[in-house]
Parts: sequence; structure tokens; C-alpha cells
Amino acid sequence: MLNLEKTAYTQEDWAQGYQSQKNEYEYWIENITGEIPWNLAGTLFRNIPAMLDVNGVSVRHPFDGDGMICSVGFRDGKAFFRNRYVRTAGFVAEQAANKFLFRGVFGTAKAGGWLANAFDIKLKNIANTHVIYWGGKLLALWEAAEPHRLLPETLETVGLDYLDGVLQPGDAFAAHPRIDPAGRLVNFALKTGLSTTVKIFEFDRSGKLETSYEHVVPGFAFIHDFAITPNYCIFFQNPVGFNPLPFLFGMKGAGECVKFKAEEATKILVIPRNGTDPVKVFESKSGFVFHHANAFETESGLLIDSIAYGSFPEVEPNKDFRETNFDRLDPGQLWRFQLDFASGKVDRELIEPRCCEFPTMNSAQVGQDGRYYYLGAAANETGNAPLQAIIKIDLQTKETITWSAAPYGFVSEPQFIAKPQAASEDDGWVVTLVYQADRNATDIVILEAKDLTVVAKLHLPHHLPFGLHGSWTDKIFLPS
Ligand code: CO
Repeated sequence: MLNLEKTAYTQEDWAQGYQSQKNEYEYWIENITGEIPWNLAGTLFRNIPAMLDVNGVSVRHPFDGDGMICSVGFRDGKAFFRNRYVRTAGFVAEQAANKFLFRGVFGTAKAGGWLANAFDIKLKNIANTHVIYWGGKLLALWEAAEPHRLLPETLETVGLDYLDGVLQPGDAFAAHPRIDPAGRLVNFALKTGLSTTVKIFEFDRSGKLETSYEHVVPGFAFIHDFAITPNYCIFFQNPVGFNPLPFLFGMKGAGECVKFKAEEATKILVIPRNGTDPVKVFESKSGFVFHHANAFETESGLLIDSIAYGSFPEVEPNKDFRETNFDRLDPGQLWRFQLDFASGKVDRELIEPRCCEFPTMNSAQVGQDGRYYYLGAAANETGNAPLQAIIKIDLQTKETITWSAAPYGFVSEPQFIAKPQAASEDDGWVVTLVYQADRNATDIVILEAKDLTVVAKLHLPHHLPFGLHGSWTDKIFLPS
């Protein structure tokens, strides 16, 4: 007998969540435990790399899977589910050919082996990381290329979107926009090589570009996310090198050629949002950072909370990602970095030692000294493991509340949704998708944000693979 007390999960159950979902559905969700709150009104959008094989040949890494957008529209205690793949040029071509035609950033090779892949650096824009509704447009994002626009009512793909001329063909646009509570969407684009250009865009609520500014910093950069405060954008330039040769020769994906340099410090770039003041650069040991929870300004500088790994989580050579040995990898942990502008010093403190990822909070607190974070976390307090729980961290009292879906449930990014006329920062719901290995299907779970008790579980009649990011809009998209 397997000791689920100790491990909380089995490798088989976790790996089973990484099957492609090749069907596209639309239906009213009927199998519900509990009740959907009558005043929960709006639409949840999620992006999932859901095409994890072509004709039975697996991607090398789930980050190489084609993006599939899900929408869940809520109104009057009812919910409507829909999922559709983004019809990127690469997706359409590969589905027609029934084989991989492009190389993936994380090592997925096109058919034909080493020779077919050498010197082919064309990448497929897979639109698989995030989805936002902003300025009347639904946009699927992937950090190395342009956004794709979809119709929010039907999830049909319109095509590449250049944001009314802000982007040029071939431009990158990061997958981690931040929304300033003052009503601006802030995002960035990287051009990297021997040096790195960080370009920042700020859009108003209608989607019109308000301002953009760029800075060049030395060295190669692998930057997935950033944080904003009213006056600054903050980036962590992870201590990594890039050896392009195995990529150029077709033996590895570009993402596999990133080498973490544990002995080197992370550079923290603090870019003023006025676009003119000089960039402040700090150094700190941080490990590898994908995601930031939040940042805010203090009298002496600023604080930033981030999920840091002891090293870059690589897939072992010649191993399927489904065989990932969690014990061999460092867990992501929530750290607080305190930047002092006068001295240039950085202090850091571990806030949450439990393995966690996908931090989120009440969107009204972005860039402010907010009190609560919600994250996906391992079921156990120690060790590295898949995300099976949602935790709520109170930064004032340092208390943590846990809701666990173990042993059969595997969670994804939580979304915080404020209740109408909310009376406090945590007066809302936390919604997440939970893959249930016992029924090989996904639940949409609605939790009360105050205490993480279950409000409702919406049992979908099929599975969804583990997803990346998503967002909530108060706008309701439902069939008429
Ligand atoms: Co991300």
C-alpha cells in the first residue's frame, strides 16, 4: 500500500493530468455540489497548454503545448463552460499534417530527428500562457511573440493582434501584464542577446497606448514576469547564461540551453514609470524566479514578494516530463525582498517555506501594501511536490489557511474575485481548476476567500490538462 499520508499523491495520478484534451465543448454545467453564489457574475478565462501530443508523439515539455482557452461564464447561480484551441498558424498546420512541423522552445523537436531540426530556429507562436480581456479584446498571450485575438463570446480566433499598431510583426509581448488599480494595463517586451532591451507599455482602459519607454541592460535575460508599484516596474534578471549551440544544432530547445548560475547574484532592475529617471540596479541572492506576488513602495525603498527556486527547474535529459522526480528539484518558496534605495542593499526573508506557485491577490491591492495572498501549494508543509492545495497567507499575522484537494486532486492558479460591495480585502471568492485523478476529470472549485471553505464544486464531465494563467472579468459572456 502506498502511504498517501506521507506523499499525498501518486506519480501516476499526477502524470495522468498531462493528457491532451482534443475535444472542444460548450455546455451549461449541470453536475454541481453546493451552490454557485447568485451574485457571482462575470467570466473566468483560463489558458491551458492542452495539445500535449500530435498523433501520439508527446511534447518534450508541457510549456510547448498549444494554447487552449477555457471560459466559464457565471450569472444567476448558473455557469456555462466553453473551450477552444487558439487557431495559431502553427496549430492549424500541425493538425493538418498530423505531425510536429516546428521546434518548441522547451525542446519539442519536429519530425525527422537532429538533421531536420538543425539551424531551424523558426518557433511556433503557441499562445499558451495567459489570457486577458482588456479594452474590449480577448487576447491569448505567449511571451516570445505577438498576442492572438479571440472573440470572447465564442472563443473563435480572429488572428494575430498588433494592439492598434503598437507592435510590429515578429515583436514579443510578455505573458504577464499587470493591472494598476488606477486603471492601466502595464506589460513589457524583451529583446535579449549579449544585452537586453526591456520595453514597457502602458495602456488605458480602452486599450489605447498611454506611454512606452525602454531601457538597455547588460547581459542575457530570462524574465517571465515583473511587478509594478505606482512609480516603478520591477524585474528580476535571473543569474543565467545561454549557450545557443545545442539549440542551433537541433539537439535541444532554446529553453533547455538556459544554464542557471547558482553562484551569481540576481540583478533586480527598478525602472521608473515616468520613463525618464535612471534605472536602479540592485543585487541579491535569490535563486530562480518566474513569478512575483506583489510589490509596494516604502519610505526607504520598496518591497517585493516573489516565488524563488534554489535552481532552474530543468527536465532531466532523456526523461519524459511526466516522470519528473519532484524530490530531486527545489521547491518554489515565497520570499520577501526589501530594497533600500539609499544604501543600495537588499535584505531577504522567507515568508512561506511550503512549496508554492501562482501567487495572486485582490486586484485592488496590486502595487499596494496588501494583506492577503492566495497560492497553489503542495499538500505537505515540507518537500517539493505537485500543487494540491490552495493556501491563503495573512502577511500581518503570518497565519496560513490551507484547503487541500489531496490525495486525488491537483490544483492550478487561484483567482481572487471580490464580492459586489465587498467590505474588506478578503471579502470574495477564490476559484481554481482542480484535476481529479480519481475520476480523470476536472472540477471548478469555488472557495470562500475568508476561510477557504468550499462554496461549490462544478464537476466537468471531462478533464482539462494542468493550465497556466487566467483572469477574471466582470463582463458576462453567455449564450443568449
Ligand atoms: Co507565468
